[in-house]
Amino acid sequence: MIKIENVHKSFDENHVLRGVNLDIKKGEVMVIVGVSGCGKSVLLKHIIGLMTPDEGRVIVNGTEISSLPRKALYKARQNFGMLFQSAALFDSMTVYENVSLSLTEHTNLSEAEKVEIVKDKLELVGLSGTEEIYPAALSGGMRKRVGLARAICMEPAVVLYDEPTTGLDPIIADTINDLMVRLQKRLSITSVVVTHDMRSAFFVADRIAMLSEGSIRFVGTSEEMEAEDDPIVREFLSHR
Ligand SMILES: Nc1ncnc2c1ncn2[C@@H]1O[C@H](COP(=O)(O)OP(=O)(O)OP(=O)(O)O)[C@@H](O)[C@H]1O
Ligand SMILES: [Mg+2]
Repeated sequence: MIKIENVHKSFDENHVLRGVNLDIKKGEVMVIVGVSGCGKSVLLKHIIGLMTPDEGRVIVNGTEISSLPRKALYKARQNFGMLFQSAALFDSMTVYENVSLSLTEHTNLSEAEKVEIVKDKLELVGLSGTEEIYPAALSGGMRKRVGLARAICMEPAVVLYDEPTTGLDPIIADTINDLMVRLQKRLSITSVVVTHDMRSAFFVADRIAMLSEGSIRFVGTSEEMEAEDDPIVREFLSHR
C-alpha cells in the first residue's frame, strides 16, 4: 500500500532522513517509533506529500506521491486522513462543521447526506449527539476523537496519526488505542501511527518500525521487538 524507497531529507546541514526504506501493507497498523527529533513527523509528512524527498520516492497505492504536481497531489490527499497531534479543530466551528469540513470542500453531497455521514462517524468514535457543541467545551480526549471522526469522514484508505495518545491520561489514551484498532477492523483502513508511547505502540501495532539516525533500524511485531538483541533497540526500550 505504501512504499518508502531510499528517502533522504536534509534541512541545511541537518541530514534527518538518510535512506529510509519501509513497506506498509494494506490494512495493517504500522507504528513508527524513535527518539525525539529523529525525524518521525518528517517521515509522516513525506507520506502525505507535505514534504518532498531530496532523494528517493514514496509510492502510495501505485502512485508516486513524491513527484506529483500540486493539483494531482491535492486529489491524492483525499485518500488520506490525518490526525494531528493537537487535533487542530477550528474553535469557531461546531463539531458538525469541523467533522464535515472535507465533505463540504471535496464533495457535492447534500446537507442531509452529510448529516448522515457525520452522525455515523461520531457514533464510531463514541460521541453521538455532540454535533452542535463547540470544541472549547470538550475535553482533550474528546477533541482527539472529534479529530479522528474528521480524519475518517471521507473514508480514506490510509489514516496517519501523529502522537495520538501523547499528553492524554492513560484511561483516555486507552480509549483512543481501542478506537484505532476498531477503525482498522471495521473500515479496513491502513494506519500509520507515530508515537513516543510504547504502551500504545504495543497495543495497536501489527508491526513496529524504529527510526534511528535517519534510517529504519528495526521492523517487526511487538513480540519480535521485545526479543530483539540489537543494543540500540534495547536501549530505546529500556526508557519505557
Ligand atoms: N520544516 C523544517 N525545517 C527545518 N528543520 C526541520 C523542519 N521540520 C523538521 N525539522 C528538523 O528535523 C528533525 C526531525 O524533526 P521531527 O519533527 O521529524 O522529529 P520527531 O521524530 O517527530 O520528534 P518528536 O518525537 O519530538 O515529535 C529535527 O531536527 C527538526 O528540527
Ligand atoms: Mg514529531
